[in-house]
Amino acid sequence: SSNGSGEKERTLGIIKPDGLSGNYSDRIKQVILESGFNINKEMVIQLDEENAANFYAEHSSKPFFTNLIKYMTSGPVLVMILEKEDAVIHWRELIGPTDAGKAKITHPQSLRAMCGVDIEKNCVHGSDSHQSAQREIAFFFKEAPSAFKTEAVRKHDE
Ligand code: TYD
Ligand code: MG
Repeated sequence: SSNGSGEKERTLGIIKPDGLSGNYSDRIKQVILESGFNINKEMVIQLDEENAANFYAEHSSKPFFTNLIKYMTSGPVLVMILEKEDAVIHWRELIGPTDAGKAKITHPQSLRAMCGVDIEKNCVHGSDSHQSAQREIAFFFKEAPSAFKTEAVRKHDE
């Protein structure tokens, strides 16, 4: 929610493996920039099972967890810090509902409608709250980056 001060908020966006391998990243970044976000930092990384399980720890008891980890480790992902006023809610609106198959009908302009397939392969991630965003940004960018097999890190704010 808005902090009322006009200050920018940060959220975490991820282009998941099928989004990267399907060459959607340029189109997605174009939408991000046209929507008024700054891409503050970005990196391409290959998650291992431990990384992915830690990132999605809240879902560890769900029936879809094993497949989710398989999917998220199936290839490199592009992780981005996105900055804008009320970035968390605006990014969630832009990506659309979790089920990309349904998004194609109910939210055809959304990113998940554009590049996702179904409720599992939904192409993009967005933090679900300000608190989650802070945890997720720290997870990727504040803790030892050597924990990840980093292919490229670009910093836009330094
Ligand atoms: P969730 O946090 O519920 O969705 P969102 O990414 O929209 O915040 O779930 C995390 C990911 O887990 C979701 O992006 C895709 C996967 N998932 C499934 O594979 N099956 C499911 O039934 C759900 C709810 C999620
Ligand atoms: Mg979620």
